Amino acid sequence: MRMLDLIAKKRDNHVLSKEEIEFIVKGYTDGRIPDYQMSAFLMAVYFNGMTDQESTDLALCMMDSGDTFDLTDIRGIKVDKHSTGGVGDKVTLVLGPLVAACGAKFAKMSGRGLGHTGGTLDKLEAIPGYNIVLEEQAFKDQVNRIGIAVIGQSKNITPADKKMYALRDVTATVPSIPLIASSIMSKKLASGADAICLDVKVGNGAFMTDIEEAKKLATLMVQIGKLAGRSVKAILTNMDEPLGFGVGNSIEVIEAIETLKGKGPKDLESVVLEIGAFLLEDAGIASKEEAKKLLIEKIENGEAFNKLVELVEAQGGDTSYIQNPDKFEKAKNIVPLKAKTSGYIESMTTIDIGIAAAYLGAGRETVDGIIDPAVGLVFEKKIGDYVSEGDVIAYIHANEKGLKEATRTLENAIVIGPKKNDVVLIEGVIL
Ligand code: URA
Repeated sequence: MRMLDLIAKKRDNHVLSKEEIEFIVKGYTDGRIPDYQMSAFLMAVYFNGMTDQESTDLALCMMDSGDTFDLTDIRGIKVDKHSTGGVGDKVTLVLGPLVAACGAKFAKMSGRGLGHTGGTLDKLEAIPGYNIVLEEQAFKDQVNRIGIAVIGQSKNITPADKKMYALRDVTATVPSIPLIASSIMSKKLASGADAICLDVKVGNGAFMTDIEEAKKLATLMVQIGKLAGRSVKAILTNMDEPLGFGVGNSIEVIEAIETLKGKGPKDLESVVLEIGAFLLEDAGIASKEEAKKLLIEKIENGEAFNKLVELVEAQGGDTSYIQNPDKFEKAKNIVPLKAKTSGYIESMTTIDIGIAAAYLGAGRETVDGIIDPAVGLVFEKKIGDYVSEGDVIAYIHANEKGLKEATRTLENAIVIGPKKNDVVLIEGVIL
């Protein structure tokens, strides 16, 4: 086989076999295929796409390029979720303990935030002492013992994807649905769960801004999961404004704690209940309708909150912060952002809200950037709310860094006008 012929085959819109895809992925990962040939191939995929089978073969080859987790010695059905990334997305922090309290086995490897999106690991690390690194056996033992573990991804998970993603980033080939779907699914499949619910974010703070494109991505990921023998479902959720009221690491942990106590924002709770119901159904614990009742019951009777305490304790974190969130260190400056005019909040440029939080130090611009857990934004108003001139729209929690840039960015990101707009939170479900 020659890479040259495979590039030409994709350029001419033919379908590649599993062996051919394997040749490309292995060759590129080993360094036998140079960047310039891989770039040409990726651009051919960008223009001509891939069949579902080709995308599945690509996901599986990338999965096989590194460590894969065999979770068979965890008793029961292992469930996982994945978000395509958004602003204020603290779903995992609420969902994990909640479904574990219902008896599901939540075995999750999470990522860090980059750019305007936050990452679960950064939020967990806002809890003093929380250890995101567990050996595979310790990870599995913990899930067996308490039903939940949330750790960082192994360094050697899907090295082919890491190398290809870095190349895509500099060759304008990131926004290709088969490439995104196989990249995400390679990591999910490598993590070993039986049932996966994908939260595909759509809107101006998400990777996918267009609902039709988001549906195509979700459908393809579900299809890849099925062809790979896993149970995968997807929901499409709105990211035209942040999820919940808080953006920033300890701010989001505190909001997750509130939600586990039944006092959280309704939009966050709705997304959690929707994904939770799918996971409990897939785990054979309850039908979808019964599952929602069970989830609410576990919030009301305190078991969901207690499960978060158990998780934090098991992974070395200081549970006194969970019991008493006032202990989280506050930023030195808490500055109100006030409405300059009266009217409804008509829209929010959510990506800029994420960027404003990153200016403060809540996110990172480069992979090794340092996070300040205390800083971020707490909204008082969201889309559809009325504000009078001078009302507080949000509080900016700032330390030394970025207050001026964050304030300017945030002011420009929020549009006040005469129209009362609604946000449709759950925009679709792909089974
Ligand atoms: N996230 C991923 O993991 N891969 C992509 O290609 C895009 C987003």
